[in-house]
Amino acid sequence: MIKKEIRLEYVEFSSISELPANIQEMIHMALEVAKKAYSPYSEFQVGAAVELSDGQRLCANNQENKAYPSGICAERSLLFFANGNYPETAVKIMVLVACSDGKLIDMPVYPCGACRQVMMETEERYGEEMEIWMVGAKTTHMIQSMNVLLPLKFSFSH
Ligand code: THU
Repeated sequence: MIKKEIRLEYVEFSSISELPANIQEMIHMALEVAKKAYSPYSEFQVGAAVELSDGQRLCANNQENKAYPSGICAERSLLFFANGNYPETAVKIMVLVACSDGKLIDMPVYPCGACRQVMMETEERYGEEMEIWMVGAKTTHMIQSMNVLLPLKFSFSH
């Protein structure tokens, strides 16, 4: 038996004002779209913004449903739209925010398991790493690739 260890690397920021200008612009975009989320059941509004390899930016939010499993998270809502409409264009950056009571939450919002799998496949599909910014009012975490959030993944190589 061999015991193995996986090391994860992420960057932490304690203020949004210290983030790069392009990320702050994307946070603004994600916050605006989060306010339009349809989330009457959880009252948790999530906004996601992406930048594609051609510089184009897109955003989306979570959409819930009375039949709970029929709803969808902001991340998958956005990636399915982006990959469906621009199938030749890689997603380079993704920014995530969440609001509760209409206010950006303090801690970073981390994607759920289902979204992680879709985010991973987006990277694999284009063969390009996607930088992910998980933003909170007091703490933001940034990772260079989905490999950090899903290190032992089910992938094309299987
Ligand atoms: N949600 C997202 O949209 N993204 C996440 O990363 C976490 C959860 C949504 C799903 C549901 O509409 C609400 O937030 C509460 O779970």
